[in-house]
Amino acid sequence: MKVLLATQKPFAAAAVAGIREIIEGAGHTLALLEKYENQADLVSAAADADAIIIRSDKVNAEVLDGAKNLKIVVRAGAGYDNVDLEAATAHNVVVMNTPGQNSNAVAELAIALMIFMARTQFTPATGTEIMGKTLGIQAFGNVGRLVGKKAEALGMKVRAIDPFLPKEKILEGGAEPAESLEDLYSSCDYVSIHIPATPQTIGSIGYDLISRMPKGATLVNTARKEVIDEDGLAKALEERPDLKYVADVAPDNIDMLKEKFGLRVFATPKKMGAQSAEANVNAGLAAARQICDFFATGNTRFKVN
Ligand code: 3PG
Repeated sequence: MKVLLATQKPFAAAAVAGIREIIEGAGHTLALLEKYENQADLVSAAADADAIIIRSDKVNAEVLDGAKNLKIVVRAGAGYDNVDLEAATAHNVVVMNTPGQNSNAVAELAIALMIFMARTQFTPATGTEIMGKTLGIQAFGNVGRLVGKKAEALGMKVRAIDPFLPKEKILEGGAEPAESLEDLYSSCDYVSIHIPATPQTIGSIGYDLISRMPKGATLVNTARKEVIDEDGLAKALEERPDLKYVADVAPDNIDMLKEKFGLRVFATPKKMGAQSAEANVNAGLAAARQICDFFATGNTRFKVN
């Protein structure tokens, strides 16, 4: 089988070497498409692939229509909003993710961004400390739980909410359950977002929630830019000169926000939450193993469509 590793944002060399070892060791071949410029490059590279490993690369209907041999796509990572699941199912293509494999890297970045903002983006201005502050975690999955543990170790009080988890599970994970999203946003000096981008969550965090945050609060988004209502965010920042926003996923209006709000806003130039050598190895090798296992035994654990 021909496995295509398509990564606009390439994996670390060690991860690529490990993926190659697993794929070729199982008797398959590996093709590489890294740092490509246009979607057309992915469409043509996918044309004769039996399997594709991707990161945030877009596997849309055009890719799926053209990939006549394709049987499986594995998103080496958590969020699969970049894959057209309906089109994949229509083409009988299995889609999987590799849950948990890059979570620690994202969680570490969420903590780093909090401290970066607390210390006014590492400028000489007097900052604050995160110890003793309250952190609210929106969605207590693999990343959210790790952020909570790390924050607790740093002396923060941790609260959390998750629409899919009963309060007992949140307590077991070491956080105090919030009663509602409104309660979480109203009570936390920092809120860290860990929800996926779905039709239900897109644009769901806006003026109403953000403007409830206490004085001096910071909203931390290492999830997806789409979950923020950008006009609502801008309005809240305008009205409340004490609020801050930091993101690993620059909003479309980042230039305007930076110009208007200066050091109160920061976004990484390119999504880098999962961009650690360890996360690349964990997620990349898991993806390669899942593909080999699928071809060898038909195992569809981690299927998301
Ligand atoms: C994920 O959903 O796993 C993260 O957002 C990482 O995305 P990336 O692989 O494009 O860095």
